[in-house]
Amino acid sequence: MKSYVVLISGRGSNMRSLLEADLPGRCAAVISNRPDAAGLDYARERGVPAAVVDHKAFAGREAFDVALAAAIDAYRPDLVLLAGFMRVLGDPFVERFAGRMLNIHPSLLPAFPGLNTHASALQLGVRIHGCTVHFVTPSLDAGPIVIQAAVAVLPGDDPARLAGRVLEQEHLIYPQAARWFLEGRLRLAGGRVELDDDPARPAALRVPDTPWPSP
Ligand code: GAR
Repeated sequence: MKSYVVLISGRGSNMRSLLEADLPGRCAAVISNRPDAAGLDYARERGVPAAVVDHKAFAGREAFDVALAAAIDAYRPDLVLLAGFMRVLGDPFVERFAGRMLNIHPSLLPAFPGLNTHASALQLGVRIHGCTVHFVTPSLDAGPIVIQAAVAVLPGDDPARLAGRVLEQEHLIYPQAARWFLEGRLRLAGGRVELDDDPARPAALRVPDTPWPSP
């Protein structure tokens, strides 16, 4: 059976959705760069090994990356899942896990890479927002896209309310992407995403009806 490691930095709700999804693979460990990440407790409660590689204990990013890679390698996972992992990873780290590391990002990439995606979406006035699962490549939030889900931006939304609706979709699409990978249907080939036929895959993701007037 394949195995995966989840990297978190805080709350860990995406990690939780992965662990609860009954994926066709074993969660070998949850690793956090913050000792106080709330998600660690949940992993331990489920009997999943929980480890900390505290970025503050290292002089620089490279040393942290080396220690984190060693911690992951100790579990020999087939797949690494960044789930609210809030450190930028250097090129050698990313290349070591090329083709077997996914990330979830709270926007419809390539729109709104980086931080504060929900506030940026509201400020720009987009009517459709959402989330993206992508393979991790050296350029930040720019790797090949596996799956996206869209939500309508509603009148009266603030960043927290919008984030909550996007998060509900994150909890659906990340387990889906992880399942495809662990089933051997999803791969990166020549820098492009290959996904074998999946009868359960929706033909198109539905955007909930928007109350905004048409132009
Ligand atoms: C999620 O919304 C995730 O998409 C985002 O952080 C949140 C973590 O929540 N990730 C990023 O912004 C990565 N750049 P969680 O800890 O409850 O999963």
